[in-house]
Amino acid sequence: MSSKHIETEAIRTQIERSQYLEHSSPMYLTSSYVFEDAEDMRASFADEKERNIYSRYSNPNSSEFVEKVCKMEGAERGYAFASGMSAVFSTFGALLDSDDHIISSRSIFGSTQTLFNNILPKWNISTSYFKIDELDAIESLIQPNTKVIYAESPTNPAVDILDLQRLGDIAKKHNLLFIIDNCFATPYLQQPIKFGADLVIHSATKLMDGQGRVLGGVTVGSSELIQKIYLFSRISGPALSPFNSWVLSKSLETLPVRVDRHCDNALKVAMFLESHENVKLVKYPFLKSHPQYELAKKQMKLGGSIVAFEIKGGIEAGRQFLNAIKLLSLSANLGDTRTIVTHPASTTHAKIPEAIRLETGITAGLIRISVGLEHPEDIINDLKQALENLNLKLYKNFN
Ligand SMILES: Cc1ncc(COP(=O)(O)O)c(C=O)c1O
Repeated sequence: MSSKHIETEAIRTQIERSQYLEHSSPMYLTSSYVFEDAEDMRASFADEKERNIYSRYSNPNSSEFVEKVCKMEGAERGYAFASGMSAVFSTFGALLDSDDHIISSRSIFGSTQTLFNNILPKWNISTSYFKIDELDAIESLIQPNTKVIYAESPTNPAVDILDLQRLGDIAKKHNLLFIIDNCFATPYLQQPIKFGADLVIHSATKLMDGQGRVLGGVTVGSSELIQKIYLFSRISGPALSPFNSWVLSKSLETLPVRVDRHCDNALKVAMFLESHENVKLVKYPFLKSHPQYELAKKQMKLGGSIVAFEIKGGIEAGRQFLNAIKLLSLSANLGDTRTIVTHPASTTHAKIPEAIRLETGITAGLIRISVGLEHPEDIINDLKQALENLNLKLYKNFN
């Protein structure tokens, strides 16, 4: 029985029970499957039967995980990958030909940008970028060989919001594929297919796992596009392991309740930061001061788990702030139960030229907080003591 509620779909979507009638799905740790006889084997390899052959192609645990994501995103079909980046790479690898062209938002995950700038050009696939406040410029970037419009919203790490309906309309008008990385929002907060996305990609490593345990990725969309991605992946081999699929499928059961609490905590953290004298600017989609507050309200259910803020005192103040953190984690991940604090300008984005960093909102004092599920008072108290330990007068660009 299917439901219109994604909370129910995330819990009740399940592979067929085995002869043991288990309540929770078992883990199928097997690399291959057996055949009844030679004819069964022939027909299975000829794709005349839908069944598991080899875990690089499919396995029951990844099928369950993918089916849940499809129901939550409103997609027909999907494929699960070993990481978010393998989902991104395989999606483009399967759908693009040499000499094709991508139009992408400038504000995308760093490794995706490196893929576009350094790896896809090996096949003469080029990318033109638009800034998040220049959607009007997109049509002027379209070339005869353009195939895709690509974006993330909210963006990483500056938490800007892009108008998905507008992007979807431009893609449709010009017959381009519209692909969205929905990892920051999750399908619980935002379903890009409703705004015209053809494919939705996730790093399942983030809020889908939600507990910082496994890597994973998934792409969902129309059966026709996923069939191409499936055929590419069954040969190139980026499949998600049955173990990780099992973990991720179980995690999806609690995604809505976890994300609700992440968003509650994040809003409290954002409101606290906005009131602090050592903070210059706070970016959280559901704060009224966010430049795209109305748009965020229109396309997202809640504001998400990521808060960005700009500390007074620039890059040195950012480093000192990280050193003063006691309870929260300094780590590269996000979407974990544990709150994670990063300073992009001195760490994850340090190698990106300053001009490009500034174009994507990564100022010298920008701090990104992936707000976790600890008690909000404890998160806020740690941030408060770290902010109060700053000796801002030491920094020449203090303002
Ligand atoms: C928006 C976004 N997309 C893709 C990825 C890549 O995912 P993974 O680390 O699972 O390969 C990340 C990782 O941080 C991300 O934040």
